Amino acid sequence: MSSLPADGFAAFIWRSLRCPTGGPGDARAAKRFAAGENRPAIHIEPVEAPAAKGFSGLRETKPILAVRDLAKTVPGGRRLFSGLDLEVKAGELVAVVGESGSGKSTFLNILAGLDDGDSGEVVVDGTATGGLDERGRTELRRTRIGFVFQAFHILPYLTLRQNVALPLALVSGDAAAIESQADAKLAAVGLGDRGGSYARDLSGGELQRVAIARALVHEPALILGDEPTGNLDPETAGRVLALFAGAVREGDAAAVIVTHSRSVAAVADRVLTLTSNGLSDADRAR
Ligand SMILES: Nc1ncnc2c1ncn2[C@@H]1O[C@H](COP(=O)(O)OP(=O)(O)O)[C@@H](O)[C@H]1O
Ligand SMILES: [Mg+2]
Repeated sequence: MSSLPADGFAAFIWRSLRCPTGGPGDARAAKRFAAGENRPAIHIEPVEAPAAKGFSGLRETKPILAVRDLAKTVPGGRRLFSGLDLEVKAGELVAVVGESGSGKSTFLNILAGLDDGDSGEVVVDGTATGGLDERGRTELRRTRIGFVFQAFHILPYLTLRQNVALPLALVSGDAAAIESQADAKLAAVGLGDRGGSYARDLSGGELQRVAIARALVHEPALILGDEPTGNLDPETAGRVLALFAGAVREGDAAAVIVTHSRSVAAVADRVLTLTSNGLSDADRAR
């Protein structure tokens, strides 16, 4: 687990979901949310929810994710990769493997608009992230992207139900509908009876499942996972993988999952290796 203090978790996950108008009062707003005070107190302006099914016709013909000629150098000057190209269509699950430090987490952060490449282009569900300001990226993440972070980032002062409800609560105000969707997703990861619990009461594997429920609850077009089954026993990992595969194949989503797990690779349509020259077919790279 990360050693970040509670407010560090809050800042990170809030940064990934919030509008810039949230400002430094975000952690306090989250606590008010946890205390059951009315959700508009979060001071986040609603954005229009995507018409999930309305996009499916479009998704059949267009890739959900298109990456062209992406390059990334980290501070200090080390080039992680260049010439990276990738297209992922609706209904496709791509696994990415690679040595530790090769840039897998950095790559996912760039896909989610949390980081930038030096050059190249990332297009998510028809929108080029490079052309968006911070607010536009936030809206894209909230409505189109589900991200399972390597360190989970479950907010400790929200119940599990509230954590899972967060992506929905930021978009719509119908509290009863949101709660039942959050509960359904918790049940789908085997934690249906734990909605009122807090992160401190859960094991690492259980927290990971909460993170997965939160990433899928708003039916995102693009699912990104950073070692999403790394803390799970094989049986639970299998169940969680079935959830990802279901979201991808039935929900018309695309997924990019960074993994070392053979079982993830087994359900993936393609397994790609990240090297300094970009992504290549895992079999050929060996
Ligand atoms: N902001 C940063 N400043 C300096 N180095 C960084 C930064 N972000 C990532 N790195 C370095 O880039 C490399 C790739 O990191 P990461 O994407 O986490 O790799 P992976 O997920 O494949 O293990 C690592 O050597 C890491 O230390
Ligand atoms: Mg990593």
